[in-house]
Amino acid sequence: MSGDVLGYAGKRVVVSGAASGMGAATAELLVGLGAEVHSLDVRAPSVPGLASHTDCDLRDPGQIDAAVARIGRVVNMLFNCAGLPNTFPDLDVMLVNFCGLRHLTERVVELMPEHADSAVVSIASTAGIGWVQNLATLMPLVTSADFDAAKAWCEEDPARIANAYGTSKEAINAYTAWRSSTLARRGIRINCCNPGPTDTPMMAEFEKAMGKRYMDEFPVPLGRHARPVEQAWPLVFLNSPRASFVTGVALDADGGFLGGLLTGQIDPSVLAPRG
Ligand SMILES: NC(=O)c1ccc[n+]([C@@H]2O[C@H](COP(=O)([O-])OP(=O)(O)OC[C@H]3O[C@@H](n4cnc5c(N)ncnc54)[C@H](O)[C@@H]3O)[C@@H](O)[C@H]2O)c1
Repeated sequence: MSGDVLGYAGKRVVVSGAASGMGAATAELLVGLGAEVHSLDVRAPSVPGLASHTDCDLRDPGQIDAAVARIGRVVNMLFNCAGLPNTFPDLDVMLVNFCGLRHLTERVVELMPEHADSAVVSIASTAGIGWVQNLATLMPLVTSADFDAAKAWCEEDPARIANAYGTSKEAINAYTAWRSSTLARRGIRINCCNPGPTDTPMMAEFEKAMGKRYMDEFPVPLGRHARPVEQAWPLVFLNSPRASFVTGVALDADGGFLGGLLTGQIDPSVLAPRG
């Protein structure tokens, strides 16, 4: 086996959200692994060694199309890391976290070689773990024709997106599972990660929305928040050719939260915080 164990040397990869937090940590790892890393974000990244950065607001499909056209040629791996917390307006949260993420993915997979280690990974969240129970409600959104149709679904009934952050993350999980079957025919894999609390700039926003005490005391069996790089490595693994038989799954990088919840060791009422 060569020194390029994860198989990223010379690969063209796109990272959304590379200006901050988990996206920045992921871009930095990928540069170090020898990939040609192209960033998309509303802010300029400071990661050294990037091949390009394009300003791109994921709320605007026209900007996504232009950014993907600018990167052009072949893209081997896509990392969907951009996101907005629940302190932003519900519609913006849905547009960035799901509608824009899906539009970017659909555009980028058009540039991916078939049956040649191409892969997509998206960051969802522990906040999206209820996706299986809500699948019937989510499927019309997940399978909607395009960005405008997805946006129309969000606008049709404000009650649908009253918990926009959780709904957007459930939709990522559902889209990953659903789209994996059709992309598999082309030899393209798609997976997602569900991180637990992680110390990035977004944590201050969660503290504003839910209270600092709630975030500090959120039950994590490992007993602490993750560091951004601890979320970046699972993403890098999932998109690596080393994970070549893994598709349509969600990896719960949550310090043991889901295991504790499913086995009755964590009180599920923690998922319905007040205030
Ligand atoms: N921090 C946590 O505890 C946590 C936990 C679970 C999931 N997540 C998810 O992880 C992902 C990364 O978040 P983070 O914690 O690194 O936060 P962050 O705020 O540090 O990074 C988010 C990035 O997304 C970019 N972004 C925001 N709006 C955008 C838009 N309209 N178009 C393009 N880019 C945009 C920001 O500029 C920023 O670079 C997000 O999807 C977030 O929801 C975070």
